[in-house]
Amino acid sequence: MEKQLVRLFSREEIAAAVKRLAREIDRDSENRSPVVIGILKGSFIFIADLVRNLETPPLAIEFTRLSSYGSATVSSGRAEILAGLPEEAVRDRNVLVVEDIVDTGITTATLLEYLQSYRPSDLKLCTLLDKPSRRRVEVKIDYRGFTVPDRFIVGYGIDFDERYRQLPEIYTIEE
Ligand code: PRP
Repeated sequence: MEKQLVRLFSREEIAAAVKRLAREIDRDSENRSPVVIGILKGSFIFIADLVRNLETPPLAIEFTRLSSYGSATVSSGRAEILAGLPEEAVRDRNVLVVEDIVDTGITTATLLEYLQSYRPSDLKLCTLLDKPSRRRVEVKIDYRGFTVPDRFIVGYGIDFDERYRQLPEIYTIEE
């Protein structure tokens, strides 16, 4: 059967959520500039919009990459860090991790544990989408855009087999 994209969130809904998240982050940061860390590749569009909505300028914008979603990752409950960061980028800093979606939680849990070992003064997680029905490991989400159903999600940076990342809106894939 042909797959169909069904719109879940419009440009306006996404823009409003990004603005709200930026306000929440600004309010909590009390003028202490955060080091913003995006997880490639899915977060590239969200992080670009989010940082342009922050009033508190980031101290730095960094990117990390973790191993792609796969059966080995799921069974071990841990992802592999493919591109880490120097300890100086994190130590004693206010760190904000930005993710497009928290699904099993394995990617973010692995990264948060790694960053925590570098002793930041504060470590927070912002995700645009949260799919709690799929959670395998516990993750504390400080800033959440939307909670989504257990469906394949694409658009606004998120892919299905590398397709659809460029779409400005968010869709589910339905049969
Ligand atoms: C996706 C998504 C998150 C992660 C969430 O990335 O962008 O990073 O999976 O899944 P989890 O909570 O189950 O760990 P993916 O590994 O597909 O790589 P990509 O961002 O490069 O597409």
